[in-house]
Amino acid sequence: MSYVEVEYPQERDAFYALLTEQLALYAGDEDDLTAALANASSVIRQAFPQANWVGFYLVKGEELVLGPFQGKPAVSRIGYGKGVCGTAWKSGEAQVVEEVACFAGHIACDCNTHSEIVIPLRQADGAIWGVLDMDSVLPAHFTQRDREGLTKALAFLRRVAG
Ligand code: SME
Repeated sequence: MSYVEVEYPQERDAFYALLTEQLALYAGDEDDLTAALANASSVIRQAFPQANWVGFYLVKGEELVLGPFQGKPAVSRIGYGKGVCGTAWKSGEAQVVEEVACFAGHIACDCNTHSEIVIPLRQADGAIWGVLDMDSVLPAHFTQRDREGLTKALAFLRRVAG
């Protein structure tokens, strides 16, 4: 398979329709979780050129463990309730952080990062199996619309995560 460049529209409904299509194309039929998450992180990175880090952390016991990602090396384990990712896991709520310096307990992986979004990923029964984490060098780069759009666009992963 070769990747075909696409141009993402600004308008958010059209943007998320294309992102959903691209995720289905490059990760939708994959039965191996690592392969699906690797291509999903790449697709999302293409869609968010201002993101400096896009990746997944997976629930393993009492920790989130680093999964496939795009970006600089990052912390490999995050405790329950720790940092932005652990907060999303513990609270069950997506986190949209406009300025990471203002988030108590934020775990810095790249000092250029200003904003961050973390989306909990759920099994059909509601249990959280991992999170998507995305960072940007721009302040307030992610919005509540992104929270909604990413949550829906990534729901397909529950098939392979189960
Ligand atoms: N900032 C995250 C840690 C992971 S890196 O951003 C890739 C956090 O506070 O949980």
